Formats: sequence, C-alpha cells, structure tokens
Amino acid sequence: MLKTLSRDEVIRFYDKFGAKQDQQGFYEDAALNLMIELGRFTEAENVFEFGCGTGKLAERLLSTSLPATAHYAGTDISSTMVRLAKTRLSGFEGRTKVQKSDGGFDVSHLGGAFDRIVCTYVLDLLSPSDIKDCLAGAHAAMNKGGLFCHAGLTKGVGPISKITSSAWTLVHRINPSLVGGCRPLMLNDYLPAQQWERIHREVVVSSWIASEVVILKAR
Ligand SMILES: C[S@@+](CC[C@H](N)C(=O)[O-])C[C@H]1O[C@@H](n2cnc3c(N)ncnc32)[C@H](O)[C@@H]1O
Repeated sequence: MLKTLSRDEVIRFYDKFGAKQDQQGFYEDAALNLMIELGRFTEAENVFEFGCGTGKLAERLLSTSLPATAHYAGTDISSTMVRLAKTRLSGFEGRTKVQKSDGGFDVSHLGGAFDRIVCTYVLDLLSPSDIKDCLAGAHAAMNKGGLFCHAGLTKGVGPISKITSSAWTLVHRINPSLVGGCRPLMLNDYLPAQQWERIHREVVVSSWIASEVVILKAR
C-alpha cells in the first residue's frame, strides 16, 4: 500500500529543508522552463501557487513573465518556506500575498478567481485523495478557461530514466522522508475529465530524472 507523509511529517521535513529546496534545480529547471513557456504567463493577471516553497518560481514569474499589473498569491504548509518566500518577494509589495496554509485545498478565502494556478513538485508528495482535493480546490478557485500548470516527478521514458524512477519509487516505498515525500506519479490517473481539458503533457528528463509538465484548462 502507498504510504505518503502525514501533514505533520511534511511540515517537519520542509521546515528543516528550507532554502535547500532551491538546489533541486538540476532536475527541476528544465521542466519549469517548459511549464513557463506553455503556461502563457504574459497573458495572466491573477496567479495562485499551491506549495510555493521558497518563492523562487514566483520571483521568476513576477520579474520575467507576468505583466506588471498581475497579482500573485501563494501558500505553503511550512512556516520556514512562507518566511523565505515573503522575504524573497518583498520587492513586489502590493502585488503579492504569501500565506501559511493549514494543508487544506480550499483557497476561496484568497479571493480568486485565478486565471493561472501553479503547482510544482507538490502533487507528487500528496496522498491520492489529497491530489484529488487539490485539483478540486484549484478548479473551484479558477476562471473557466484558466490554466492549471503542473510540473512534478513522473515515470521515466527511456532506459536510464526508467531505472531512476523505479529506484526513486522503491526508496519512497521504504521511507518517503528520504526523498522529501515525493514519488514519480502520472497526473492523468487523478484527472476528472468533466472538469479539466488536458491541453499539454510532456516528459522532460534532466540529470536522468523524469518530470512531467501538464497544462490543464478549466472547463
Ligand atoms: C518539493 S517542495 C516544492 C516547492 C516549490 N513548489 C518548488 O517547486 O520548488 C514541496 C512544497 O510543498 C509544500 N507542501 C506540501 N504539502 C502541502 C500542502 N498540503 N499545502 C501547502 N503546501 C504544501 C511543502 O512545504 C514544500 O514547500
């Protein structure tokens, strides 16, 4: 049976991990570059991010992709991450809001409706029921036609990345904390087709690690 980290275990891990999250770029950056390209952020006005981590992606979107009028809101379950993200985004005051989350997926209190919701390397640490709740919360907070932009670990596609993803899955099965709670997953397994149209899926392999980039359009 699949064992995922509890919310308390996630908080403990990411409170301690903190800024080290930014060192994961060796396998995340190529997928994030593609997600930014496909997410049409130059047309976005109201962006929300689930699990914003250190605010690295938000800073990049605000400084290079989003219009100067666009607003960004992000939440994270870890208070260390919220502190790091707030500090990092302090130069965008008036356009950004970063809040500590209780781990739930109802973000109606943040105002919405969002035209982009971003979630990178977060769904792959959630339980299957939390993934479904996260997608439902995102759908409820989003404009019709808005884009849900996901990047996360997935199963490998070539011989080497298949070996890496199988090894990663095995380590996760033995002890999820050894890999920050994350495991390779296929987002398609969790998608209610009546709510989302999948407009793009692509697997990017970097440093032998496979990530999937998925762009969903809210119906
Ligand atoms: C692997 S990190 C990825 C951080 C960031 N999105 C990135 O790509 O660098 C996972 C993040 O999700 C946060 N997280 C995990 N479960 C969460 C939940 N239920 N609600 C909000 N944040 C959560 C963690 O605290 C952590 O910052």
